[in-house]
Amino acid sequence: MKVDVILGLQWGDEGKGKIVDVLAPEYDVIARFQGGPNAGHTLEFDNIKHVLHQIPSGMFRKNTLNVIGNGVVLDPVIFKKEIEKLAPYGLDPRANLVVSTKAQLILPTHRLLDQAYEQSKGDNKIGSTLKGIGPAYQDKIARAGIRTGDILSKNFEEKLNQLMSKHLEILADYPLEYDFPTLKKEFSEAIDFLKSFKLVDTTYLINDKLQDGHKILAEGAQGSMLDIDFGSYPFVTSSNTTTPGVCTGLGVAPSKIGRVYGIFKAYCTRVGSGPFPTELFDEEGELIRSEGREYGATTGRPRRCGWIDIPALKYAIMINGVTDLIMMKADVLSIFDEIKVCTHYMFEDGTVSDRFPNDLCSEKIVPVYQTLKGWKTDLSSTTDEKKFPDELVQYIARLEELLSTPIVMVSLGPGRNQTIKRQLF
Ligand code: GDP
Ligand code: IMO
Ligand code: MG
Repeated sequence: MKVDVILGLQWGDEGKGKIVDVLAPEYDVIARFQGGPNAGHTLEFDNIKHVLHQIPSGMFRKNTLNVIGNGVVLDPVIFKKEIEKLAPYGLDPRANLVVSTKAQLILPTHRLLDQAYEQSKGDNKIGSTLKGIGPAYQDKIARAGIRTGDILSKNFEEKLNQLMSKHLEILADYPLEYDFPTLKKEFSEAIDFLKSFKLVDTTYLINDKLQDGHKILAEGAQGSMLDIDFGSYPFVTSSNTTTPGVCTGLGVAPSKIGRVYGIFKAYCTRVGSGPFPTELFDEEGELIRSEGREYGATTGRPRRCGWIDIPALKYAIMINGVTDLIMMKADVLSIFDEIKVCTHYMFEDGTVSDRFPNDLCSEKIVPVYQTLKGWKTDLSSTTDEKKFPDELVQYIARLEELLSTPIVMVSLGPGRNQTIKRQLF
């Protein structure tokens, strides 16, 4: 068997949580491979909205094993709160959730460092979620981090105090106020809580499951444009959000990657700072935000909105090896008479290209648009592809042509049931 992958092709928040939840019954295992509590994955069913940050989105499906892989940075405090929030739903998280002993821990001081670094950047803020992601990955790469498995070792307290002391020394140079004893107490309680979960070698677990013919789905966090190597650096997150991250974040060989589902919104959003070629600063942008309820699932910040960006999508499809596309939030565009598709970028020297520039931050880009007719139809209760208005069919066909990849699913609302499977399904 191979590991299928679901990941975002834009700047995050494409609707990964919803689709993982929809597809989970077809898989035995759902595994997160990178990122951490910066993610906010929304699932809606039975009139309840759930937002998951670190827990994989297969959590609400019986018979699904959920794995937090080695590539994830795990905040035990947020983990405890997330698990406690699940209590009313009769789940058994200690039975169907396992955590890699190699996943790095986010300490309270990582969160403080994230704040300190952001504050000191002034106008050049990344717009971090302030969850300590950057500082935790920094310690991982510097070979100074603490891993989840370490909480079971005798010298854990010593290691923890050493690393936190180092962080406090750095923090002394920043004008940040915090109550360290309270943070430390909260962290210790969360570590005790984490110890009651299955902390295992997920590398063998995943590979043994593959060997035994089990179906595994890797759930991406963030989006390809936020990838540390290929995104709009430095306005990115600190992990590889793209398909290669599955190999390093779960311990799966490249030859074991199966289908790669690339998720994109029928338009485009971004939360946080950084370049966004198709961003709309006018009433149309406001309309997308209000109709799409575009406010961050983790921070509540308003998301920046714009038209779909084909050069960025083509680039993301290339890097990820996307085999299947999934288009989200088509219903949101129902309000528009006309819908724009950015097919190319025009650069300052007048050249026009459908290629993503080497350094998006140093380019002044004018999007080149093709205008398509809107469908102006309420799609919220459409359950059959044959009932799609002609203009939506044309929009899908044009995107498939531009992206040379099939759109196998179309999402028409936040609910589980508002999902149309096309072609392969
Ligand atoms: P993720 O981070 O990729 O899982 O996405 P988020 O959960 O951060 O953001 C997606 C938002 O769009 C959530 O509020 C979802 O409930 C909502 N959503 C998902 N699919 C659709 C859709 O097809 N139509 C509409 N209107 N909302 C959707
Ligand atoms: P999901 O999984 C959207 C953005 C932040 C900021 C940048 C760096 O829900 O799609 P970080 O906290 O990682 O240091 O922030 O990345 N960002 C996201 N934007 N969706 C996310 O996750 C994001 N995770 C991080 O806004 O610009
Ligand atoms: Mg999100």
